[in-house]
Amino acid sequence: MTDLLTLNPLTPLHETVRRPLYTETTTSQALYLPIAPPTLGTAGAVIGRELYSGKAFIYCPFSAFGDGLPGGNAIVMGDTGRGKSALTKTYTARQIRLGRKVVVLDTKEQKEREEGEWAALGRSLTGKAPIKFTPGGGCDASCINPMDPAIAGKRQIELVRTIVELGLGRALDEFAGSALRLAIRRAHQRANDAGRTPVLADVAAALRAPEESDATAKQRTRDELLNDGLEASYVLDRLCGTDQDATGDLIGILDGPTSLGVDLDADMVVFDLTKVPSGGVAMTILVAVIAVFLEEVWLRPVCECGTEPSQHERQIVDVNSGAWELGPNPESGCRRYTQRKRILVCEEAWHILGTPQLASLLEKFLKFARGYGLSCIFIVHHLSDIDDSPETQAALKMADTIIVYSMKKSEAEDTVRRLGLPGWTAEHITRLRRGIALWVVGEVIYPGVQHLLTEAEQHLCFSSGSMADLTNTSPDPE
Ligand SMILES: Nc1ncnc2c1ncn2[C@@H]1O[C@H](COP(=O)(O)OP(=O)(O)OP(=O)(O)O)[C@@H](O)[C@H]1O
Ligand SMILES: [Mg+2]
Repeated sequence: MTDLLTLNPLTPLHETVRRPLYTETTTSQALYLPIAPPTLGTAGAVIGRELYSGKAFIYCPFSAFGDGLPGGNAIVMGDTGRGKSALTKTYTARQIRLGRKVVVLDTKEQKEREEGEWAALGRSLTGKAPIKFTPGGGCDASCINPMDPAIAGKRQIELVRTIVELGLGRALDEFAGSALRLAIRRAHQRANDAGRTPVLADVAAALRAPEESDATAKQRTRDELLNDGLEASYVLDRLCGTDQDATGDLIGILDGPTSLGVDLDADMVVFDLTKVPSGGVAMTILVAVIAVFLEEVWLRPVCECGTEPSQHERQIVDVNSGAWELGPNPESGCRRYTQRKRILVCEEAWHILGTPQLASLLEKFLKFARGYGLSCIFIVHHLSDIDDSPETQAALKMADTIIVYSMKKSEAEDTVRRLGLPGWTAEHITRLRRGIALWVVGEVIYPGVQHLLTEAEQHLCFSSGSMADLTNTSPDPE
Protein backbone atom coordinates (compact mmCIF):
# COMPACT_ATOMS: atom_id res chain seq x y z
CA MET A 1 0.00 0.00 0.00
CA THR A 2 1.14 3.51 -0.68
CA ASP A 3 2.06 5.27 2.53
CA LEU A 4 0.15 8.57 2.42
CA LEU A 5 2.55 10.27 4.78
CA THR A 6 5.49 9.73 2.46
CA LEU A 7 3.68 11.41 -0.44
CA ASN A 8 4.30 15.08 -0.82
CA PRO A 9 1.25 16.54 -2.53
CA LEU A 10 3.05 19.80 -3.08
CA THR A 11 5.77 18.64 -5.42
CA PRO A 12 6.68 19.50 -8.02
CA LEU A 13 5.91 23.18 -7.62
CA HIS A 14 5.33 23.98 -11.29
CA GLU A 15 2.40 21.56 -11.48
CA THR A 16 0.19 23.34 -9.01
CA VAL A 17 1.22 26.96 -8.63
CA ARG A 18 1.85 29.66 -11.12
CA ARG A 19 3.66 32.96 -10.72
CA PRO A 20 2.83 35.87 -13.08
CA LEU A 21 3.82 35.07 -16.64
CA TYR A 22 4.13 37.09 -19.83
CA THR A 23 3.18 35.24 -22.97
CA GLU A 24 3.34 35.55 -26.72
CA THR A 25 1.81 38.14 -28.99
CA THR A 26 -1.96 38.24 -29.25
CA THR A 27 -1.77 36.94 -32.82
CA SER A 28 -0.08 33.71 -31.87
CA GLN A 29 -2.40 33.35 -28.90
CA ALA A 30 -5.42 33.58 -31.18
CA LEU A 31 -3.96 30.82 -33.37
CA TYR A 32 -3.05 28.55 -30.53
CA LEU A 33 -5.23 29.15 -27.47
CA PRO A 34 -3.38 26.91 -25.00
CA ILE A 35 -0.50 29.41 -24.90
CA ALA A 36 -2.83 32.38 -24.35
CA PRO A 37 -2.74 33.80 -20.85
CA PRO A 38 -5.35 32.29 -18.56
CA THR A 39 -8.52 34.38 -18.47
CA LEU A 40 -8.45 35.01 -14.76
CA GLY A 41 -4.85 36.18 -14.62
CA THR A 42 -1.65 34.26 -14.32
CA ALA A 43 -0.99 34.37 -10.58
CA GLY A 44 -2.58 31.86 -8.24
CA ALA A 45 -3.33 28.18 -7.91
CA VAL A 46 -3.59 26.14 -11.08
CA ILE A 47 -7.01 24.47 -11.18
CA GLY A 48 -6.73 22.77 -14.55
CA ARG A 49 -7.95 23.91 -17.92
CA GLU A 50 -10.90 25.51 -19.59
CA LEU A 51 -12.30 22.84 -21.88
CA TYR A 52 -13.70 25.17 -24.53
CA SER A 53 -10.53 27.18 -25.10
CA GLY A 54 -7.88 24.76 -23.87
CA LYS A 55 -6.42 27.59 -21.78
CA ALA A 56 -5.01 27.00 -18.34
CA PHE A 57 -7.42 27.94 -15.56
CA ILE A 58 -5.77 29.67 -12.66
CA TYR A 59 -7.77 30.99 -9.76
CA CYS A 60 -6.86 33.08 -6.77
CA PRO A 61 -9.46 35.23 -5.01
CA PHE A 62 -6.65 37.27 -3.49
CA SER A 63 -4.93 38.06 -6.81
CA ALA A 64 -8.16 38.51 -8.80
CA PHE A 65 -9.69 40.55 -5.99
CA GLY A 66 -11.00 43.94 -7.11
CA ASP A 67 -10.42 42.97 -10.72
CA GLY A 68 -13.94 41.72 -11.46
CA LEU A 69 -14.11 39.84 -8.16
CA PRO A 70 -15.58 41.87 -5.31
CA GLY A 71 -14.94 39.28 -2.57
CA GLY A 72 -13.14 36.03 -1.87
CA ASN A 73 -15.96 33.75 -0.70
CA ALA A 74 -16.95 30.74 -2.76
CA ILE A 75 -19.60 28.04 -2.78
CA VAL A 76 -19.06 24.62 -4.37
CA MET A 77 -22.11 22.50 -5.18
CA GLY A 78 -23.10 19.39 -7.08
CA ASP A 79 -24.20 15.77 -6.77
CA THR A 80 -22.25 13.34 -4.66
CA GLY A 81 -18.98 11.97 -6.06
CA ARG A 82 -18.56 14.68 -8.72
CA GLY A 83 -15.30 16.10 -7.33
CA LYS A 84 -16.26 18.95 -4.97
CA SER A 85 -14.00 17.84 -2.14
CA ALA A 86 -11.17 16.81 -4.47
CA LEU A 87 -11.18 20.30 -5.99
CA THR A 88 -11.24 22.04 -2.63
CA LYS A 89 -8.52 19.81 -1.18
CA THR A 90 -6.06 20.33 -4.02
CA TYR A 91 -6.93 24.01 -4.36
CA THR A 92 -6.21 24.70 -0.68
CA ALA A 93 -3.03 22.59 -0.74
CA ARG A 94 -1.89 24.59 -3.78
CA GLN A 95 -2.75 27.88 -2.08
CA ILE A 96 -0.64 26.85 0.92
CA ARG A 97 2.34 26.94 -1.45
CA LEU A 98 1.59 30.62 -1.89
CA GLY A 99 1.80 31.17 1.87
CA ARG A 100 -1.90 30.94 2.79
CA LYS A 101 -3.18 29.36 6.02
CA VAL A 102 -6.16 27.04 5.87
CA VAL A 103 -8.76 25.89 8.41
CA VAL A 104 -11.18 23.08 7.55
CA LEU A 105 -14.40 22.09 9.28
CA ASP A 106 -14.47 18.44 8.28
CA THR A 107 -17.83 16.74 8.79
CA LYS A 108 -17.56 13.74 6.51
CA GLU A 109 -16.16 10.52 7.90
CA GLN A 110 -14.22 8.06 5.80
CA LYS A 111 -15.65 4.94 7.36
CA GLU A 112 -12.78 2.62 6.50
CA ARG A 113 -10.31 4.95 8.20
CA GLU A 114 -12.56 6.06 11.08
CA GLU A 115 -11.56 9.67 10.61
CA GLY A 116 -12.58 12.71 8.60
CA GLU A 117 -11.77 12.78 4.89
CA TRP A 118 -9.41 15.76 5.28
CA ALA A 119 -7.28 14.05 7.94
CA ALA A 120 -4.87 12.45 5.45
CA LEU A 121 -4.26 15.72 3.59
CA GLY A 122 -3.82 17.71 6.82
CA ARG A 123 -1.35 15.13 8.14
CA SER A 124 0.63 15.04 4.91
CA LEU A 125 0.93 18.84 4.88
CA THR A 126 1.65 19.49 8.54
CA GLY A 127 2.46 16.10 10.08
CA LYS A 128 -0.28 16.80 12.63
CA ALA A 129 -3.48 14.98 13.50
CA PRO A 130 -6.85 16.78 13.20
CA ILE A 131 -8.48 18.48 16.19
CA LYS A 132 -11.10 15.90 16.94
CA PHE A 133 -14.34 16.52 18.82
CA THR A 134 -16.02 13.50 20.36
CA PRO A 135 -19.22 13.77 22.41
CA GLY A 136 -18.44 12.41 25.87
CA GLY A 137 -14.71 13.09 25.38
CA GLY A 138 -11.95 10.50 25.12
CA CYS A 139 -8.17 10.30 25.05
CA ASP A 140 -7.67 12.01 21.65
CA ALA A 141 -10.71 14.32 21.96
CA SER A 142 -10.42 18.11 22.10
CA CYS A 143 -12.46 20.71 23.90
CA ILE A 144 -13.05 24.41 23.20
CA ASN A 145 -14.11 26.58 26.11
CA PRO A 146 -16.61 29.31 25.16
CA MET A 147 -15.59 31.03 28.43
CA ASP A 148 -11.91 31.07 27.40
CA PRO A 149 -10.31 34.45 28.19
CA ALA A 150 -8.98 34.40 24.58
CA ILE A 151 -12.51 35.42 23.52
CA ALA A 152 -13.04 39.11 24.23
CA GLY A 153 -15.77 40.31 26.66
CA LYS A 154 -18.62 41.38 24.35
CA ARG A 155 -18.11 38.52 21.89
CA GLN A 156 -18.11 36.06 24.76
CA ILE A 157 -21.42 37.36 26.08
CA GLU A 158 -22.94 37.10 22.58
CA LEU A 159 -21.53 33.60 22.21
CA VAL A 160 -22.81 32.23 25.53
CA ARG A 161 -26.19 33.82 24.78
CA THR A 162 -26.23 32.11 21.35
CA ILE A 163 -25.44 28.77 23.02
CA VAL A 164 -28.30 29.17 25.50
CA GLU A 165 -30.71 30.31 22.77
CA LEU A 166 -29.76 27.41 20.49
CA GLY A 167 -30.26 25.01 23.41
CA LEU A 168 -33.59 26.63 24.29
CA GLY A 169 -34.80 26.84 20.70
CA ARG A 170 -35.88 30.48 21.04
CA ALA A 171 -34.52 33.91 21.96
CA LEU A 172 -33.99 35.00 25.58
CA ASP A 173 -36.03 37.98 26.81
CA GLU A 174 -34.39 41.14 28.20
CA PHE A 175 -34.53 39.98 31.84
CA ALA A 176 -32.95 36.60 31.13
CA GLY A 177 -30.34 38.22 28.84
CA SER A 178 -29.38 40.65 31.59
CA ALA A 179 -29.17 37.87 34.23
CA LEU A 180 -26.91 35.91 31.86
CA ARG A 181 -24.58 38.89 31.36
CA LEU A 182 -24.24 39.35 35.10
CA ALA A 183 -23.65 35.62 35.62
CA ILE A 184 -20.87 35.54 33.01
CA ARG A 185 -19.11 38.40 34.82
CA ARG A 186 -19.52 36.67 38.18
CA ALA A 187 -18.30 33.33 36.77
CA HIS A 188 -15.09 35.04 35.61
CA GLN A 189 -14.58 36.73 38.95
CA ARG A 190 -15.25 33.60 41.04
CA ALA A 191 -13.03 31.39 38.86
CA ASN A 192 -10.22 34.00 38.95
CA ASP A 193 -10.45 34.07 42.74
CA ALA A 194 -10.08 30.30 42.70
CA GLY A 195 -7.09 30.60 40.34
CA ARG A 196 -8.63 28.77 37.37
CA THR A 197 -10.31 29.42 34.00
CA PRO A 198 -14.12 29.67 34.09
CA VAL A 199 -16.21 27.12 32.19
CA LEU A 200 -19.89 27.01 31.19
CA ALA A 201 -20.85 25.17 34.41
CA ASP A 202 -19.61 28.23 36.36
CA VAL A 203 -22.13 30.38 34.47
CA ALA A 204 -24.92 27.95 35.36
CA ALA A 205 -23.80 28.07 39.02
CA ALA A 206 -23.66 31.89 38.98
CA LEU A 207 -27.17 32.06 37.50
CA ARG A 208 -28.41 29.97 40.44
CA ALA A 209 -26.51 32.00 43.03
CA PRO A 210 -26.84 35.68 42.06
CA GLU A 211 -25.21 38.39 44.18
CA GLU A 212 -27.35 40.81 46.17
CA SER A 213 -25.33 43.77 44.79
CA ASP A 214 -26.00 42.71 41.15
CA ALA A 215 -29.74 42.55 41.86
CA THR A 216 -29.75 45.97 43.55
CA ALA A 217 -27.85 47.54 40.64
CA LYS A 218 -30.67 46.35 38.34
CA GLN A 219 -33.49 47.43 40.69
CA ARG A 220 -34.44 43.76 41.22
CA THR A 221 -34.60 41.65 44.33
CA ARG A 222 -32.19 38.73 44.56
CA ASP A 223 -35.13 36.31 44.07
CA GLU A 224 -36.29 38.17 40.96
CA LEU A 225 -32.79 38.02 39.49
CA LEU A 226 -32.63 34.32 40.33
CA ASN A 227 -35.95 33.81 38.59
CA ASP A 228 -34.78 35.76 35.51
CA GLY A 229 -31.83 33.45 34.96
CA LEU A 230 -33.13 30.10 36.21
CA GLU A 231 -34.27 28.79 32.83
CA ALA A 232 -30.90 29.63 31.24
CA SER A 233 -29.14 27.74 34.03
CA TYR A 234 -31.31 24.68 33.34
CA VAL A 235 -30.39 24.86 29.64
CA LEU A 236 -26.67 25.00 30.48
CA ASP A 237 -27.09 22.08 32.91
CA ARG A 238 -28.83 20.05 30.24
CA LEU A 239 -26.14 20.81 27.65
CA CYS A 240 -23.08 20.46 29.88
CA GLY A 241 -24.36 17.89 32.40
CA THR A 242 -24.02 18.06 36.18
CA ASP A 243 -22.33 15.92 38.84
CA GLN A 244 -25.44 13.72 38.89
CA ASP A 245 -26.17 13.71 35.15
CA ALA A 246 -23.56 12.93 32.49
CA THR A 247 -25.84 12.95 29.42
CA GLY A 248 -25.36 16.55 28.19
CA ASP A 249 -24.93 17.11 24.42
CA LEU A 250 -21.85 19.27 24.91
CA ILE A 251 -19.99 17.05 27.39
CA GLY A 252 -16.42 16.50 26.28
CA ILE A 253 -16.73 19.15 23.55
CA LEU A 254 -17.46 22.54 25.10
CA ASP A 255 -17.79 21.97 28.84
CA GLY A 256 -14.13 22.13 29.95
CA PRO A 257 -11.04 24.30 29.50
CA THR A 258 -9.71 24.66 25.92
CA SER A 259 -7.48 21.72 25.12
CA LEU A 260 -6.48 22.43 21.54
CA GLY A 261 -3.41 20.29 21.22
CA VAL A 262 -2.76 21.81 17.82
CA ASP A 263 -0.92 24.86 16.71
CA LEU A 264 -3.41 27.29 15.13
CA ASP A 265 -0.53 28.76 13.12
CA ALA A 266 -0.07 25.49 11.18
CA ASP A 267 -0.51 25.71 7.40
CA MET A 268 -3.64 23.58 7.58
CA VAL A 269 -5.74 23.02 10.70
CA VAL A 270 -8.46 20.39 10.40
CA PHE A 271 -11.35 20.41 12.89
CA ASP A 272 -12.73 16.88 12.76
CA LEU A 273 -16.46 17.10 13.54
CA THR A 274 -17.31 13.69 12.12
CA LYS A 275 -18.28 12.19 15.50
CA VAL A 276 -20.67 15.02 16.34
CA PRO A 277 -24.22 14.14 15.19
CA SER A 278 -24.93 16.22 12.10
CA GLY A 279 -27.91 18.55 12.29
CA GLY A 280 -28.12 18.20 16.10
CA VAL A 281 -27.88 20.94 18.69
CA ALA A 282 -24.28 19.99 19.61
CA MET A 283 -23.08 20.47 16.00
CA THR A 284 -24.84 23.82 15.69
CA ILE A 285 -23.41 25.11 18.95
CA LEU A 286 -19.94 23.72 18.23
CA VAL A 287 -19.78 25.44 14.84
CA ALA A 288 -20.92 28.72 16.43
CA VAL A 289 -18.16 28.45 19.04
CA ILE A 290 -15.48 27.49 16.51
CA ALA A 291 -16.46 30.46 14.31
CA VAL A 292 -16.03 32.90 17.20
CA PHE A 293 -12.86 31.18 18.40
CA LEU A 294 -11.35 31.43 14.93
CA GLU A 295 -12.28 35.07 14.67
CA GLU A 296 -10.70 35.89 18.01
CA VAL A 297 -7.62 33.68 17.85
CA TRP A 298 -6.85 32.56 14.28
CA LEU A 299 -7.80 35.68 12.35
CA ARG A 300 -5.71 38.19 14.26
CA PRO A 301 -3.88 40.56 11.88
CA VAL A 302 -0.41 39.38 11.01
CA CYS A 303 1.94 40.12 8.11
CA GLU A 304 3.04 37.43 5.69
CA CYS A 305 6.50 37.74 7.31
CA GLY A 306 4.87 36.53 10.56
CA THR A 307 5.09 39.79 12.53
CA GLU A 308 2.31 41.92 14.05
CA PRO A 309 1.15 45.22 12.44
CA SER A 310 2.54 47.16 15.44
CA GLN A 311 6.05 45.99 14.53
CA HIS A 312 5.81 47.65 11.12
CA GLU A 313 6.66 51.31 10.53
CA ARG A 314 3.91 53.71 9.50
CA GLN A 315 4.55 55.44 6.19
CA ILE A 316 2.73 58.67 5.30
CA VAL A 317 1.26 58.27 1.82
CA ASP A 318 -0.48 61.66 1.61
CA VAL A 319 0.98 64.59 3.48
CA ASN A 320 -2.15 66.70 3.15
CA SER A 321 -4.54 64.26 4.82
CA GLY A 322 -1.88 62.51 6.88
CA ALA A 323 -3.04 59.16 5.44
CA TRP A 324 -0.62 56.35 6.20
CA GLU A 325 -0.05 52.69 5.52
CA LEU A 326 2.03 50.03 7.19
CA GLY A 327 5.50 49.81 5.68
CA PRO A 328 8.64 47.84 6.51
CA ASN A 329 9.62 45.97 9.62
CA PRO A 330 13.38 46.64 9.92
CA GLU A 331 13.78 43.81 12.46
CA SER A 332 12.39 41.06 10.23
CA GLY A 333 13.72 42.64 7.02
CA CYS A 334 10.17 42.72 5.59
CA ARG A 335 9.74 45.61 3.13
CA ARG A 336 5.97 46.14 3.41
CA TYR A 337 3.13 44.93 5.61
CA THR A 338 1.04 42.44 3.64
CA GLN A 339 -1.88 40.87 5.49
CA ARG A 340 -1.55 37.10 5.72
CA LYS A 341 -4.33 35.48 3.64
CA ARG A 342 -6.45 32.71 5.03
CA ILE A 343 -8.97 30.21 3.72
CA LEU A 344 -11.79 28.62 5.72
CA VAL A 345 -13.41 25.50 4.26
CA CYS A 346 -16.79 24.22 5.48
CA GLU A 347 -17.57 20.73 4.20
CA GLU A 348 -21.25 19.76 4.12
CA ALA A 349 -22.06 23.38 4.85
CA TRP A 350 -25.81 22.87 4.51
CA HIS A 351 -26.15 22.48 8.25
CA ILE A 352 -24.46 25.84 8.74
CA LEU A 353 -26.27 27.70 5.99
CA GLY A 354 -29.49 25.89 6.84
CA THR A 355 -29.56 27.03 10.48
CA PRO A 356 -30.72 30.67 10.60
CA GLN A 357 -28.79 31.49 13.82
CA LEU A 358 -25.56 30.09 12.34
CA ALA A 359 -26.19 31.66 8.94
CA SER A 360 -26.55 35.09 10.53
CA LEU A 361 -23.43 34.55 12.68
CA LEU A 362 -21.64 33.52 9.55
CA GLU A 363 -22.98 36.42 7.56
CA LYS A 364 -21.22 38.77 10.00
CA PHE A 365 -18.07 36.70 9.54
CA LEU A 366 -18.37 36.83 5.75
CA LYS A 367 -19.05 40.55 5.71
CA PHE A 368 -15.76 41.21 7.43
CA ALA A 369 -13.86 38.51 5.54
CA ARG A 370 -12.31 41.07 3.20
CA GLY A 371 -10.88 43.02 6.12
CA TYR A 372 -9.36 39.83 7.52
CA GLY A 373 -7.83 38.71 4.21
CA LEU A 374 -10.13 35.68 4.46
CA SER A 375 -11.75 33.57 1.79
CA CYS A 376 -14.52 31.15 2.89
CA ILE A 377 -15.43 28.10 0.83
CA PHE A 378 -18.72 26.31 1.48
CA ILE A 379 -19.37 22.87 0.04
CA VAL A 380 -23.00 21.78 -0.32
CA HIS A 381 -24.86 19.30 -2.49
CA HIS A 382 -27.75 21.41 -3.71
CA LEU A 383 -29.29 24.73 -2.85
CA SER A 384 -32.48 22.83 -2.04
CA ASP A 385 -30.62 21.42 1.01
CA ILE A 386 -30.61 24.95 2.32
CA ASP A 387 -33.79 26.73 3.34
CA ASP A 388 -34.83 30.06 1.87
CA SER A 389 -34.63 32.07 5.12
CA PRO A 390 -33.47 35.70 4.82
CA GLU A 391 -30.34 34.85 6.89
CA THR A 392 -29.41 32.09 4.45
CA GLN A 393 -30.08 34.27 1.42
CA ALA A 394 -27.88 36.98 2.90
CA ALA A 395 -25.05 34.48 3.55
CA LEU A 396 -25.38 33.07 0.01
CA LYS A 397 -25.11 36.54 -1.50
CA MET A 398 -21.67 36.84 0.07
CA ALA A 399 -20.30 34.20 -2.32
CA ASP A 400 -18.67 35.81 -5.34
CA THR A 401 -17.41 32.58 -6.85
CA ILE A 402 -19.84 29.75 -7.51
CA ILE A 403 -18.65 26.37 -8.72
CA VAL A 404 -21.36 24.01 -9.96
CA TYR A 405 -20.70 20.33 -10.61
CA SER A 406 -23.18 18.03 -12.32
CA MET A 407 -26.68 17.77 -10.84
CA LYS A 408 -29.94 16.12 -11.72
CA LYS A 409 -32.32 18.11 -13.94
CA SER A 410 -34.68 19.38 -11.23
CA GLU A 411 -31.79 20.41 -8.96
CA ALA A 412 -29.98 22.11 -11.84
CA GLU A 413 -33.11 24.08 -12.77
CA ASP A 414 -33.62 25.15 -9.16
CA THR A 415 -29.96 26.19 -8.84
CA VAL A 416 -30.03 28.20 -12.06
CA ARG A 417 -33.21 29.96 -10.92
CA ARG A 418 -31.93 30.77 -7.44
CA LEU A 419 -28.58 31.99 -8.68
CA GLY A 420 -30.06 33.93 -11.61
CA LEU A 421 -27.90 32.10 -14.18
CA PRO A 422 -28.85 32.05 -17.90
CA GLY A 423 -31.41 29.38 -18.87
CA TRP A 424 -29.00 27.32 -21.04
CA THR A 425 -26.81 26.51 -18.05
CA ALA A 426 -29.49 24.20 -16.50
CA GLU A 427 -29.22 21.64 -19.30
CA HIS A 428 -25.44 22.12 -19.47
CA ILE A 429 -25.00 21.41 -15.73
CA THR A 430 -26.75 18.03 -16.04
CA ARG A 431 -24.18 16.94 -18.64
CA LEU A 432 -20.96 17.83 -16.82
CA ARG A 433 -18.65 14.87 -16.28
CA ARG A 434 -16.83 14.13 -13.00
CA GLY A 435 -14.09 16.67 -12.31
CA ILE A 436 -15.61 19.26 -14.67
CA ALA A 437 -17.59 22.22 -13.35
CA LEU A 438 -19.25 25.43 -14.40
CA TRP A 439 -17.54 28.34 -12.65
CA VAL A 440 -19.11 31.73 -12.06
CA VAL A 441 -16.41 34.18 -11.00
CA GLY A 442 -17.92 37.58 -10.24
CA GLU A 443 -20.07 38.24 -13.30
CA VAL A 444 -18.27 35.90 -15.71
CA ILE A 445 -19.32 32.33 -16.49
CA TYR A 446 -16.75 29.68 -17.40
CA PRO A 447 -18.91 26.78 -18.60
CA GLY A 448 -16.39 23.93 -18.42
CA VAL A 449 -13.40 23.99 -16.10
CA GLN A 450 -11.64 20.67 -15.77
CA HIS A 451 -9.89 20.13 -12.49
CA LEU A 452 -6.61 18.28 -12.92
CA LEU A 453 -5.04 16.20 -10.15
CA THR A 454 -1.38 15.24 -9.84
CA GLU A 455 -0.62 11.62 -8.96
CA ALA A 456 0.19 12.37 -5.32
CA GLU A 457 -3.00 14.37 -4.98
CA GLN A 458 -5.10 11.53 -6.37
CA HIS A 459 -4.17 9.37 -3.38
CA LEU A 460 -5.09 12.11 -0.94
CA CYS A 461 -8.40 12.90 -2.65
CA PHE A 462 -9.58 9.32 -3.14
CA SER A 463 -12.88 9.20 -1.27
CA SER A 464 -14.52 6.18 -2.86
CA GLY A 465 -12.76 3.46 -0.83
CA SER A 466 -16.01 2.11 0.62
CA MET A 467 -17.69 1.84 -2.80
CA ALA A 468 -14.78 0.75 -5.02
CA ASP A 469 -14.35 -3.01 -5.47
CA LEU A 470 -10.58 -2.98 -5.06
CA THR A 471 -10.24 -6.80 -5.20
CA ASN A 472 -11.29 -6.68 -8.85
CA THR A 473 -8.55 -4.24 -9.80
CA SER A 474 -4.96 -5.29 -10.49
CA PRO A 475 -3.10 -6.29 -7.31
CA ASP A 476 -0.69 -3.95 -5.58
CA PRO A 477 2.86 -4.78 -6.85
CA GLU A 478 4.00 -5.08 -3.22
N1 LIG B 1 -10.77 15.97 -11.31
C1 LIG B 1 -10.73 14.69 -10.98
N2 LIG B 1 -10.00 13.81 -11.67
C2 LIG B 1 -9.97 12.50 -11.30
N3 LIG B 1 -10.64 11.98 -10.25
C3 LIG B 1 -11.39 12.80 -9.53
C4 LIG B 1 -11.48 14.20 -9.85
N4 LIG B 1 -12.29 14.77 -8.96
C5 LIG B 1 -12.69 13.80 -8.12
N5 LIG B 1 -12.15 12.62 -8.47
C6 LIG B 1 -12.37 11.34 -7.76
O1 LIG B 1 -13.76 11.15 -7.60
C7 LIG B 1 -14.08 10.65 -6.32
C8 LIG B 1 -15.14 11.52 -5.68
O2 LIG B 1 -14.64 12.84 -5.52
P1 LIG B 1 -15.03 13.76 -4.30
O3 LIG B 1 -14.84 13.05 -3.00
O4 LIG B 1 -14.31 15.02 -4.47
O5 LIG B 1 -16.59 13.95 -4.57
P2 LIG B 1 -17.62 14.93 -3.85
O6 LIG B 1 -18.29 15.70 -4.90
O7 LIG B 1 -16.94 15.69 -2.77
O8 LIG B 1 -18.64 13.88 -3.24
P3 LIG B 1 -19.52 13.99 -1.89
O9 LIG B 1 -20.61 14.95 -2.17
O10 LIG B 1 -20.05 12.61 -1.69
O11 LIG B 1 -18.63 14.42 -0.80
C9 LIG B 1 -12.78 10.65 -5.50
O12 LIG B 1 -12.37 9.32 -5.28
C10 LIG B 1 -11.80 11.43 -6.32
O13 LIG B 1 -10.50 10.88 -6.26
MG1 LIG C 1 -17.12 15.62 -0.67
